[in-house]
Amino acid sequence: MKMLEIEEILLDQETIDKKVSELAGLIVQDYAGKDLVLVCILKGAITFTADLMRRIPFSITLDFVQASNYGMGTAPSREIRIKKDIETDIKGRHVLLVDCIIDSGETIDCLLKRYGERNPASLKAVVLADKRSRRTIDVPLAYRGFEIPDKFVVGYGVDCGEQYRNLPYIAALRRVAAGAPPAGIGDSLE
Ligand code: IMP
Ligand code: MG
Repeated sequence: MKMLEIEEILLDQETIDKKVSELAGLIVQDYAGKDLVLVCILKGAITFTADLMRRIPFSITLDFVQASNYGMGTAPSREIRIKKDIETDIKGRHVLLVDCIIDSGETIDCLLKRYGERNPASLKAVVLADKRSRRTIDVPLAYRGFEIPDKFVVGYGVDCGEQYRNLPYIAALRRVAAGAPPAGIGDSLE
């Protein structure tokens, strides 16, 4: 059995906070006076979306999509499934997809194609953290917070096996040897 533990905090609370304010500032400038629909990509984007939308001073519509390609572990399965779709009619409206982490780009690519067919007035994406070296599809990102290394990360909404979402920072996980005592929060993967 392999155990996981926090290896390193990559983005602390203050660093995330400042970046969310910066991104919100750009979004507010670009969408002021427009009918904005924020689409939170569940579950990982929940914390980012909650922080971002509270920095937008005008009325917006919030909706959720749940797409999965990671399953319960760290290995990508590369099949995008829509487990829950948005309920908002986005025709003629300005849609902004919100995700916490972009990795291969396949999730956002799939959603841009899916919602593009519904004739929104505009359709863009914002991500907080970009694992750019992992990209397999060149997806356009209107707003991007940080570039982060190719490490499996958790926290600030993002999970490993449904654990760690509640951490207020973004941290890399490391595997520790079988039988080693779990330091801090440990999680069994296999
Ligand atoms: P992509 O489709 O490969 O870009 O993956 C995007 C989705 O995978 C995100 O919405 C995250 O939920 C998840 N993901 C990507 N990287 C990580 C990670 O390091 N830890 C946990 N989830 C991740
Ligand atoms: Mg996950």
